[in-house]
Amino acid sequence: MSRSTIPPGSAAPAGSTRNGYAPGRLTVHSDPAKLTPVTRALRGAGRKIALIPTMGALHEGHRELIRHARRLPGTVVPVVSIFVNPLQFGAGEDLERYPRPLEADLEACREEGVELVLTPQVEHMYPPGSETRIAAGALGDELEGAVRKGHFDGVLTVVSKLFHIVGPDVALFGEKDYQQLTLVRRMVRDLDFPLSVVGVPTVREDDGMALSSRNAYLDPEQRGRAAVLARALVAGASVSARGPDAVLAAARAELAAEPDIELDYLELRDADLGPAPASGEARLLVAARAGSTRLIDNVPVAL
Ligand code: PAF
Repeated sequence: MSRSTIPPGSAAPAGSTRNGYAPGRLTVHSDPAKLTPVTRALRGAGRKIALIPTMGALHEGHRELIRHARRLPGTVVPVVSIFVNPLQFGAGEDLERYPRPLEADLEACREEGVELVLTPQVEHMYPPGSETRIAAGALGDELEGAVRKGHFDGVLTVVSKLFHIVGPDVALFGEKDYQQLTLVRRMVRDLDFPLSVVGVPTVREDDGMALSSRNAYLDPEQRGRAAVLARALVAGASVSARGPDAVLAAARAELAAEPDIELDYLELRDADLGPAPASGEARLLVAARAGSTRLIDNVPVAL
């Protein structure tokens, strides 16, 4: 099956899905080649195509990306892609156990008013003989890339393919994966993709913990302790007027209170993830492990 239309309650007029799109209803395409002419025709008709790339297991953070897209100026058609991209998983990472709750994801899309969803199979995205990859460059080997070799090459490769398939005017990414957002922005600039990239602030739980599909792997005790990451970032950002060293020291002191959360890195960088400035806009980033689950978070810091 390459296409199915899932009614949100009310019936769409007969024949309205003939072209792979039914206004006000969710149409799911599994074959990218069937979606491309649909988004192209909608763009031609003056609609703004907003792509939200995801790996599924949609949570409030993804819903916020969709809502943000729908609030953009113009007549927006939000397009959600759901694809667990094998290229961005290293050996021993969680490709097999990555959650794939497709029906719940489609329900979430329907509730958020999404009209088009792309759910390609691996063979659609990487048919036999597919060898070409995007190289993320030096930043792709730092921070997350230092422990996840090739991860960002995989991310940028699939994102560039999605950009070609969907042809969006705008693509939305969460600031939670700030390095990913930065690298996507850079790729768009370096490779002249004709679209704009929008970063959407991280959605957090009441205790500050950033929403992530990986939080589901934490047991209740780990989940409780893991909130130290957000507390550390807030502690650092709150002393930003005292300069970079004070920011890092305050964050480190907070992290030291939870030795079971194994720190990987705590870094202060500029907003493009270059070396930290002495003053101005910066980003405080943290990565740590709770058991076998790797967690990341970051906040803006005004030095
Ligand atoms: O952030 C994610 O979920 C993924 O890295 C993305 C951007 C969908 C690419 O697979």
